[in-house]
Amino acid sequence: MTAKSYFIETWGCQMNDLDSQRIAGQLKLRGYRQAASENEASLILLNTCSIREKSEQKVFSRLGVLKEAKERGARIGVAGCVAQQEGARILERAPYVDFVLGTGNVGTLDDVLEGRTRVAIDFPEAREYDYLAIERPSATRAQITVIEGCNKNCTFCIVPTTRGREISRPFRHLVAETIHAVSTGRSEIELLGQTVNAYRCPESGQTFADLLKAIATTPGVARLRFMTSHPAEVSDEMIEAMRLHSNICRFLHLPVQSGSSAVLRRMKRLYTRERYLETIERIREAIPGTGFSTDLIVGFPGETDDDFEQTLSLMKQVRFGSLYAFKYSPRPGTPALRLKDEVPAEVANARLHRLFALQEEIQRETLDSYVGRTLEVMYEAPSRNDPTEFAGKTDDNWTVNFTGLSAVAPGMLIPVRITQAQHYTLRGEAVA
Ligand code: 5AD
Repeated sequence: MTAKSYFIETWGCQMNDLDSQRIAGQLKLRGYRQAASENEASLILLNTCSIREKSEQKVFSRLGVLKEAKERGARIGVAGCVAQQEGARILERAPYVDFVLGTGNVGTLDDVLEGRTRVAIDFPEAREYDYLAIERPSATRAQITVIEGCNKNCTFCIVPTTRGREISRPFRHLVAETIHAVSTGRSEIELLGQTVNAYRCPESGQTFADLLKAIATTPGVARLRFMTSHPAEVSDEMIEAMRLHSNICRFLHLPVQSGSSAVLRRMKRLYTRERYLETIERIREAIPGTGFSTDLIVGFPGETDDDFEQTLSLMKQVRFGSLYAFKYSPRPGTPALRLKDEVPAEVANARLHRLFALQEEIQRETLDSYVGRTLEVMYEAPSRNDPTEFAGKTDDNWTVNFTGLSAVAPGMLIPVRITQAQHYTLRGEAVA
């Protein structure tokens, strides 16, 4: 075991990823080094997810395994959404855990590190956020949290419990963090929030559209992405900002959850099927070629065959480039627990299969349609499968592996002619 070394295991969403980057950055400032494996670490942190029951169960089985590490003297911490949700109950089930670090306390890691508290799970009004101490894994991209928490209270969702009420960071901090990120070579900025487009500066009242404009016009920002947007918060101003600034990626992750208005109402999603489709239409009209991805829940209580057919028909109508679909998973303390007409597991599984089969078809056709076109690709790193090739992303978020260049610096935008569509990626050749 190396003195003061850490190992962080991260589950879940981009927000958790970024929290791990922030924790790692703070640990480095305090003299820790990254351990090559958990066996060598003096501090092991699980940054956990509880969006569905399965992810939550994984935490406790992992903790069981980590008991051994504890016996050789390592310290063990649980962070993230299970930490927030379960708090001191984690210590009851796994007394060898040294500390529990909630999602609102990432900025005050010292308190648990130095033993001032063992369970830190409050949501402080003022959050510490040291953007100078973030271990960013990518040389070309920086993720920046703009808003934490969620006020939407969708009936299925645990996030209001695990991430608290919405709290936006001051506009001027976000601009300063962007300038700093650019100065370290990160020319792609990705703004993060559970409901990123609900952003509102607590000092000036500036909106998400204002923020998009400010970040897009910061010198050195070659690409600007953001996620996750809530469909009911897509404003005309936000679309206009995307239209005006060509470095804002023509891509939106816009979770729809279901294609049936009846299900959406029970989910309390605050929009209907028609309103969602109208929003997509509005964006496509203003910015042709915009790509969309989405999240879907299958087997929500009361979902009928007809409701599910409406989800399939919405998928055909929108033609999402990619999607995440999940079987509904009951979460503690959520209003949906009181809904009747549970969908049997076999029915939900069968629906999920049909959904994936349809998406596969749509995705295949979408990827095939790119062959022969020349797309602008931001080079990120050598390709994982073949290091003699280059890998990067299109602005609508497809990974492209390409050849045809002798030297290229990360972050460069390169026109690439697409020669082949693969399962989930594209191949091509740089255009001289
Ligand atoms: N069951 C299944 N999926 C869920 N999600 C959120 N809560 C649940 C739940 N209780 C999905 C939603 C959300 C994504 C991050 O996870 O689709 O958009």
